[in-house]
Amino acid sequence: MTELRSNSLGNADIVATLHPYTNARDHEVSGPLVIERGRGIYVYDVQGNEYIEGLAGLWSVAVGFNEPRLAVAMAAQMEKLPYYHTFSSKAHEPSIRLAEKLVEMTPAQLTRVFFTSSGSEANDTVVKMVWYMNNALGRRQKKKFIARAKAYHGVTVAAASLTGLPNNHRDFDLPAIPVRHLTCPHFYRFGQAGESEAEFAARLVAEAEAVILAEGPETIAAFIGEPLMAAGGVMPPPTGYWRGIEALCRKYDILLVADEVICGFGRLGSSFGAVHYGFTPDIMVLSKQLTSSYMPLAAVLISERIYDAIANNSARIGTFGHGFTASGHPLAAAVALENLKIIEERDLVGNAARVGAALQAGLANLADHPLVGEVRGVGLIAGVEMLADKATRRPFDIIGPAGARAFRIGHENGLIVRAIGDTLALCPPLILTEAQAGEVVKRMRRILDQTAEWVRATGWR
Ligand SMILES: Cc1ncc(COP(=O)(O)O)c(C=O)c1O
Repeated sequence: MTELRSNSLGNADIVATLHPYTNARDHEVSGPLVIERGRGIYVYDVQGNEYIEGLAGLWSVAVGFNEPRLAVAMAAQMEKLPYYHTFSSKAHEPSIRLAEKLVEMTPAQLTRVFFTSSGSEANDTVVKMVWYMNNALGRRQKKKFIARAKAYHGVTVAAASLTGLPNNHRDFDLPAIPVRHLTCPHFYRFGQAGESEAEFAARLVAEAEAVILAEGPETIAAFIGEPLMAAGGVMPPPTGYWRGIEALCRKYDILLVADEVICGFGRLGSSFGAVHYGFTPDIMVLSKQLTSSYMPLAAVLISERIYDAIANNSARIGTFGHGFTASGHPLAAAVALENLKIIEERDLVGNAARVGAALQAGLANLADHPLVGEVRGVGLIAGVEMLADKATRRPFDIIGPAGARAFRIGHENGLIVRAIGDTLALCPPLILTEAQAGEVVKRMRRILDQTAEWVRATGWR
């Protein structure tokens, strides 16, 4: 790192860039890790060091870091029509075909698509669509959202309000929209003594109903959730949770929004998270693996009932007054189409299920490690939670430094993970092979051993 700081590229970064999700003052001292190129599941820094990208960038690169077909698809579109918009009834072939493709791929009730460039914009769009719809239907009170503690829905004003992580609210004057955050559905951490997983799920559903009744069902517009909570710490829901939540949504006429920005397109070894957990959302939000993040793109899929209300209101007002310069951008849509074709042709969803099972089995062996409290995950997403005392599940007195240390040790061992507090998250590209999964597990064990040494040496507790 110090080498990089004295490197002109590193110095230029320190002078010119404010980094997302970074302690800016620490960054001025340590400098950036400058990544130069990628190949398959690997990325390489400017000094030529190789890393397994254990988080697929930001949970997003399904097809690997140098897929030539995406470059070809983008170049062809660049030559033909590099940009056009979709305002005022304009259209172009890539966005038409992609909308059609997404309607075909997603569950049957989702019939219309609205494009944005990021998951955050997509979730802000969801909030505005839901409000617009309920105003159109004369349900002017029905505006509140229900989300969960530790949820991640993005960082724009409405999306960050839905997010249930303190650092996304603190000093940003958020939440700024009416939202109630429920208990995080993580059994290991929030289950009570003597409670079974099914009882935990039932308690959370009862909590949701109590909140709905206390607020008044006529004020609750939508429930939003990641099918499997990812960025908050990789927490699969307890069995029965989603079916219970779905039943409540139907009972009180509350829209159910599946934020599939990470789960979508095979991450869990199923086409979509909602399919994996067997529930039927009214709205689905997609991004990341949609283009393998080669281009910024997200999509909001809605049911015909929502579309009808919005369409009628647009006719009454004269327009649907919402949209982005880059909504349905042709380069992004062309890349998405080719990326989805590759996911299908190479059966990467099936691969995520098969190699995912091997990865989860390998990681499960780490549960014996003295530093590890819980190993959890589904398909090709996993979390390994480190803590101070395994027997009592006591976390470290200060959560974060052990994770940060393990994150850096990961770099030294050629494995990029994400540290979420003291949980190490893995979410490798969907092209991962079984042999590579084995290597990821081997490096994870090394990271844990070396972090344990640091814990012993520093007396960290
Ligand atoms: C579930 C979920 N929703 C929304 C977002 C926000 O997406 P973006 O960073 O593209 O704004 C993320 C990003 O990680 C996410 O994980």
